[in-house]
Amino acid sequence: MSDTLQSIKVEAEKKIETAGDQEGLEEIRVSILGKKGALTQILKGMKDLSPEERPKVGQQVNEVRAFLEEKLQERKKSLKHAMLTERLKRETIDVTLPGKRQIRGHRHPNQIALEDLERVFIGMGYEVVEGPEIEYDRYNFELLNIPANHPAKDEQDTFYITKDILLRTQTSSVQARIMEKGKLPIKIISPGRVFRSDEVDATHSPSFHQVEGLVVGKNVTMADLKGTLDQFARQFFGPNTKTKLRPHHFPFTEPSAEVDVTCFKCGGKGCGVCKGSGWIEILGCGMVHPHVLEMCGIDPEVYSGFAFGIGLERVALLKYEIDDMRLLYENDVRFLSQF
Ligand code: DAH
Repeated sequence: MSDTLQSIKVEAEKKIETAGDQEGLEEIRVSILGKKGALTQILKGMKDLSPEERPKVGQQVNEVRAFLEEKLQERKKSLKHAMLTERLKRETIDVTLPGKRQIRGHRHPNQIALEDLERVFIGMGYEVVEGPEIEYDRYNFELLNIPANHPAKDEQDTFYITKDILLRTQTSSVQARIMEKGKLPIKIISPGRVFRSDEVDATHSPSFHQVEGLVVGKNVTMADLKGTLDQFARQFFGPNTKTKLRPHHFPFTEPSAEVDVTCFKCGGKGCGVCKGSGWIEILGCGMVHPHVLEMCGIDPEVYSGFAFGIGLERVALLKYEIDDMRLLYENDVRFLSQF
């Protein structure tokens, strides 16, 4: 073997053995076996050799190449193994360390009240549907018999986006949306957010929640309405709760009523929660106005219905004896986790 070949082999072997990483090893490989590598140069110079020498040198170069390739492979493997061992050492997990405590939130009293309420109505065969918070005047007012000069339509009370589009002021807007679909009978509740241009105080907020109820079918009477609300009040506030209908006016129901329940705290004797009266107002309701049915494509001679609207915050505040509505919107976990 020529001296050059011999020294290439010895030097390359030394370099391979001391290569510190994969990149260094690759550089060494290129410097020997690459296009311009030392061994490749020798192969290229073979054309100047005599025909007798050529096969001998050729064979030696091939032997050296095979030898070095094997060495490269071995080194590559051992470098990889060393790297892995090093990483495993570095990344050990100390399972005896204390864990990081995750701070968990808490279900909101509104949400708890809504789920309780939905459970009661689903139990009576109601379906839960939702309507849009950004609504047309048509669904929020017009189809509900609310005339142009009604105070609720005043800019002081309603957030308008355009002349015809607004933030709904009541979930009653869902009534017309469901009725005009034409599928009868109807038995739904529709919870959701509503908006009114109110100042924030202990009992008001520009955004709050209602749960609308609507039943339309044949022979639906006021007795059904009263029975339904009785059932709801007993299941939601306790088995001894009584209800009372007080005549009221809503444009989209006739007759209309406001509903009080006996105070769940004092049972009707009078206390701080019911302000001494023994009764607490929780919702508005009535028999769907024949004109509303008609406008929504339902024949009032054949069908009748009742509707009600519950203030979700109102029942949540009552049920959990919270005296300031603002607490519901601050979302302080220390407050929420009491419920
Ligand atoms: N939408 C009414 C309000 O916001 C509440 C209401 C009253 C809803 C009577 C009804 C109803 O469905 O029949 O004050």
